[in-house]
Amino acid sequence: MSMELSVQGKNAIVTGAAGNIGEACVRALAAAGANVLVADMDAAAAERTAEKLQKEYPDVKLVPQVCDVTNKASVDAMVSAALEAFGRIDILNNIAGMSTKVDFLEMPEDIYDQMMDVNAKGTFLVDQAVLKAMIPNRSGKIVNMSSMSGKEGYPTNVAYSASKFAVTGMTQAIAKYAAPYNINVNCVCPGIVHTHIWDRLLDDVTKAGGDADAYWKERISAIPLKRPQTAEDIAHMFLYLSSPFADNMTGQSINVTGGLILH
Ligand SMILES: NC(=O)c1ccc[n+]([C@@H]2O[C@H](COP(=O)([O-])OP(=O)(O)OC[C@H]3O[C@@H](n4cnc5c(N)ncnc54)[C@H](O)[C@@H]3O)[C@@H](O)[C@H]2O)c1
Repeated sequence: MSMELSVQGKNAIVTGAAGNIGEACVRALAAAGANVLVADMDAAAAERTAEKLQKEYPDVKLVPQVCDVTNKASVDAMVSAALEAFGRIDILNNIAGMSTKVDFLEMPEDIYDQMMDVNAKGTFLVDQAVLKAMIPNRSGKIVNMSSMSGKEGYPTNVAYSASKFAVTGMTQAIAKYAAPYNINVNCVCPGIVHTHIWDRLLDDVTKAGGDADAYWKERISAIPLKRPQTAEDIAHMFLYLSSPFADNMTGQSINVTGGLILH
């Protein structure tokens, strides 16, 4: 048996592909020989990411695509673009997401709605459209983006936890729906990765009069391995779950948290 974690020649969609973790996932797939539709709400950023990585990986096809995951027409257009570019879709890394840090009692309704729209409904719409395209092939790997906040609630991000528990639950339900078609559906639960999302969260702490540096250090000191995760740590788990190594795994939510979450 080959021990190669092979996605060579496969065709993938990555949403949120211009973000820190999204870009790391595109890079991991491209390095392993997969073609990728580089999809993000920010069209210019998607183009920059695809162009930059295409230079690093000239042997695969990296195609930029604008897609707002909260909009069904935009999601359908993304799936059509992938089918047009590659002929079929083998892998989805569904990474688009958002977070804010607003005290629960002060959190306006519209932030709750936006969080559920992007993180929960976005996952629903993209999984639904991609699964439809995968079913005729009787194969495929869908990997969603949850969070440690999709396994345990934190008082500092009530709406985010609600949206990421939705992703964890949806992953289980869609996994059972997709299993008869030989399609695997799993999600990844990262801990703390210092990305743009965390830059904005730390800004929110400062704006609320807190000490962002002390907050960051306190959060990291609680991690058993005593270090934050990197975008590459997360991309490696996405790649594993996108590969034949995960052929017999479905409905799972895998923590990459340095030991912070153990269930
Ligand atoms: N950074 C962390 O510590 C951490 C921890 C757990 C989970 N996550 C999850 O990882 C994912 C990526 O986050 P990141 O940390 O790389 O942040 P990021 O802000 O760098 O990336 C998010 C990307 O998603 C895109 N996006 C936002 N809304 C969108 C929409 N409606 N449609 C399409 N694209 C949209 C943004 O344009 C951006 O490129 C998110 O789902 C986040 O919840 C992050």
